[in-house]
Amino acid sequence: MMLLAQVSDTHFDSDPHNAERVAAVLGYLERLPQRPDAIVVTGDITDRGSLAQYEQACKGLSTDIPLHILPGNHDDRANFRRTVLELPASDGPINQSFSLGLLTVALLDSTIPGEGAGSLCEQTYAWLDDLLARTPADGTVLLALHHPPLPMYSTVVDPIRLRDPQRLEDLVASDERILGVLAGHMHAMGTTLFGGKPLVVAPSVASSIGCAWEVDTPGEVPIDYAPDPAIVLHVVDGSRLTSIVRQVPMGGRIPIQPR
Ligand SMILES: [Fe+2]
Repeated sequence: MMLLAQVSDTHFDSDPHNAERVAAVLGYLERLPQRPDAIVVTGDITDRGSLAQYEQACKGLSTDIPLHILPGNHDDRANFRRTVLELPASDGPINQSFSLGLLTVALLDSTIPGEGAGSLCEQTYAWLDDLLARTPADGTVLLALHHPPLPMYSTVVDPIRLRDPQRLEDLVASDERILGVLAGHMHAMGTTLFGGKPLVVAPSVASSIGCAWEVDTPGEVPIDYAPDPAIVLHVVDGSRLTSIVRQVPMGGRIPIQPR
């Protein structure tokens, strides 16, 4: 059994508010009697992609739990490479993978530089084909990317979701090793099926964005900074994926029923 924590949309913006929320989340994970085997951060690490924000993010996301980060539409590939990956700056897609036993996690770069919407480019599909060709036949695979490939009933995020998702959906459906797809971007929890497999969209650590039925007037962004940060804990047991949402209380814990 592998335990994978998904943390999303941290939006480090040079102010302390979001950094404190990330610190609470990492503290919660680090103090668990059973710590996660790894943490995946599914994009929008920074709010505006500046070097200063990445420096804050690198400090804020430091933990002794193995942590893997993919970019979102608020990120900047060149600055992400220089700071998070300590590589020379370049604008090519940032695709990465790691393994936990027989589980392979593919972190796909779904960003389009300068745009809010997402897409997987030919280079990324070629990279994924190669990774799957090298993955053992009896292994399992999770795909992680920032942009949900399906509408999630969000007036904010649906117009800038993953474009042209059919190719990815066909790939997910056709490879029995792929257990599910993890995404962020929505700032709310949502699940559905994609290629017959679970699509799990994680909430944001930074803020909550309401769904279509929470919008009063067209164009309103139903964002709320009050809710506690939330994360998803994914259990991979054999070929079964179980995903559990957990809020991390900023105000501490009350272990006795209040009267
Ligand atoms: Fe975001």
